Amino acid sequence: MASPFYKILPTPVLTEDQLMSLRQITDKEKPEIKNFGRSTYWDENFLYHQGKFYHQTKSPYKPVIDSVSQIFLKCLSENGVDIDRTTISLGAYLDRNVVNVSNAATSDLFWHRDSINVDEQSKDADYSLVLLLSPVTWKGADIILQMGGSYDKEEGVWINSDSPKIPIKHAHNQAIVFHNRDSAHYVTPVELLNAETVHRDIFILTCFFK
Ligand SMILES: [Fe+2]
Repeated sequence: MASPFYKILPTPVLTEDQLMSLRQITDKEKPEIKNFGRSTYWDENFLYHQGKFYHQTKSPYKPVIDSVSQIFLKCLSENGVDIDRTTISLGAYLDRNVVNVSNAATSDLFWHRDSINVDEQSKDADYSLVLLLSPVTWKGADIILQMGGSYDKEEGVWINSDSPKIPIKHAHNQAIVFHNRDSAHYVTPVELLNAETVHRDIFILTCFFK
């Protein structure tokens, strides 16, 4: 029974200045869509080709998004992925989960694979990077990875894998890179330590080899 490819990058991934630039997204932007209890604040698709990033729009967050993308692709490259064999589509977004006593028990995110928009079509991303921007003031919200499974169209979830589950505790300013194409993931509910409302902000990069 195989385990998925994943890497937990050493903390801190970003400098304080870079973290501040990403925090500007939730300070300045309005959440666009709400999915599974999370609000998406910024959603941008761009390309990587032969060492360079190509953005379609003049993104105010380009420097920091490119920095995280470089870390993402370097991790893949160091683990044997040929990042220069073709053009890579990348998707970046910031998700905020606002959790309080009334929704904590349902703040999990069921088994899924990340998708990416490539040439106006939604595809399964090849790899994902998930970076936790918030300080951790809760328990739970662990990421669990599992190889295999099959897609239940009716429920929209990945089910029925016998492979071992790999639980990962996510630390502040820590990035987890994994082979999204091979593995589904689940995020356990936030367990609040007191009655306050917490914001769990994560920055996500997905990529697809064209
Ligand atoms: Fe995900």
